[in-house]
Amino acid sequence: MSAMTTIAPTTAKVATKAPAAKAQAKIPPRRIDFNFSAENVPRYYVGNDPFLTTFVTALSSLFPEGEFFFVEAVRHYRDRITDPALKADVSGFIGQEALHSLAHKAFNDAATVQGFQVDKLDRDIGNLLRLVKRVAPPIFQLAVTAGLEHYTAIFTEMLLKREDVMELFSPEIRNLYLWHSVEENEHKNVAFDVYQTVSGSYFLRAGVMIPTTVIFFAVIFGFQARLLAKDGQLLNVRQNIKGLNYIFGFKGVFSTLLPKYLDWFKPNFHPSHHDTDALLERWRETLFGENGSLTSKMIKPKSQKAS
Ligand SMILES: [Fe+2]
Ligand SMILES: [Fe+2]
Repeated sequence: MSAMTTIAPTTAKVATKAPAAKAQAKIPPRRIDFNFSAENVPRYYVGNDPFLTTFVTALSSLFPEGEFFFVEAVRHYRDRITDPALKADVSGFIGQEALHSLAHKAFNDAATVQGFQVDKLDRDIGNLLRLVKRVAPPIFQLAVTAGLEHYTAIFTEMLLKREDVMELFSPEIRNLYLWHSVEENEHKNVAFDVYQTVSGSYFLRAGVMIPTTVIFFAVIFGFQARLLAKDGQLLNVRQNIKGLNYIFGFKGVFSTLLPKYLDWFKPNFHPSHHDTDALLERWRETLFGENGSLTSKMIKPKSQKAS
């Protein structure tokens, strides 16, 4: 390993107010008291591996601005939704994504303190998304959101199913991704259903996915290369090829998602066709049930706290 950047302790935590949206029964926003301090999260928090860690950090760098973009894209059409069930789903979606955005911001701040320049990546993705907002019509932004929600849904479904992948993550980061993964699958239909309600154009939905995919991977690889370079690991060829192979090689973590990704292009596709009900049931109990591993870290809304 290369010379490590000095690790300054941090007490970065999610310490924010819960969103105004009322918790919805089907899509409940859950606020978790994460602790991403340097004492609680090792520098190479995925398999003690710089390549895998920087890949996940690059992903995380997209979430605060990215999920804010999703919220705005869906919120734009909120008044056009008349179905009460979908209206409730939209509130739950906004609440969950707002909290994801804040939790990843807290993680990203802690990673920046550890010497990864996630603040710069966050700034750059923010600039890119503000440009998209300026030049692209709202329906295009909603189609991009629905497409990226498809990505998040199939990626997080895989995380919930692949114990061998999740056990590489250090405990608090595993908590972060398990919480996020459950909620992504709880709300995976919402942006799609809003899109179907206000447009429904198959050609726009399928057409937008192609540049979205190209830009998504260009950004991820670019961001990861910057993180590896800053960490002095960019030319660690053996390690990086091994990591690339683990993610994108034959039977790689991302490669195995290809059939589910391609389902998006079926004209009659709906996110619920990937049935995750039983999986979610199991994980909700494991994480948030009576003896759930995250139950004690959940921060109750003020209205539910004992006076
Ligand atoms: Fe999210
Ligand atoms: Fe989402």
